[in-house]
Amino acid sequence: MEKTLVIVKPDAVCRGYSGKILGILEEHGLKLRALKMLQLDKQQAQGFYAVHKERPFYDSLTSYMSSGPVVAALLEGDEAISKVRQLLGDTDSKKAAPGTIRASFGQNREQNAIHASDSPGSAAFEIPFLFNELEITDYDPQ
Ligand code: CMP
Repeated sequence: MEKTLVIVKPDAVCRGYSGKILGILEEHGLKLRALKMLQLDKQQAQGFYAVHKERPFYDSLTSYMSSGPVVAALLEGDEAISKVRQLLGDTDSKKAAPGTIRASFGQNREQNAIHASDSPGSAAFEIPFLFNELEITDYDPQ
């Protein structure tokens, strides 16, 4: 079983899509292990996206990600990282395949509804960035 970190971004939270997006992920067999709503400050967003700090969109992305509330979730499942990224679709919501989460709920390349870990290495960095041990649960799916 693999773990991945998703963040429902401010555009999707503010438009009331948090529950729908998490529901789609659960319906596809992803097990919810941790969940919280929070607002990152600019410095925290910069830390989370430090891997992109040389990219031209870094300042805009981190301002946007700290502009409103987000919903963070730790999900677990068989090949969870690739499965979730397939469900998300292309980074640019306008180019994402119909039916994918970003096509359905995102608006453009930056305001694309949801972030998900892109590799086991990024999941290993992102999960403890947003959740401590006490916040991570486990249970047998019924
Ligand atoms: P996310 O999955 O959160 O990972 C990094 C984010 O940077 C990405 O989704 C987009 O929101 C954003 N991003 C990636 N490429 C670009 C780009 N070319 N211009 C603006 N934002 C981008």
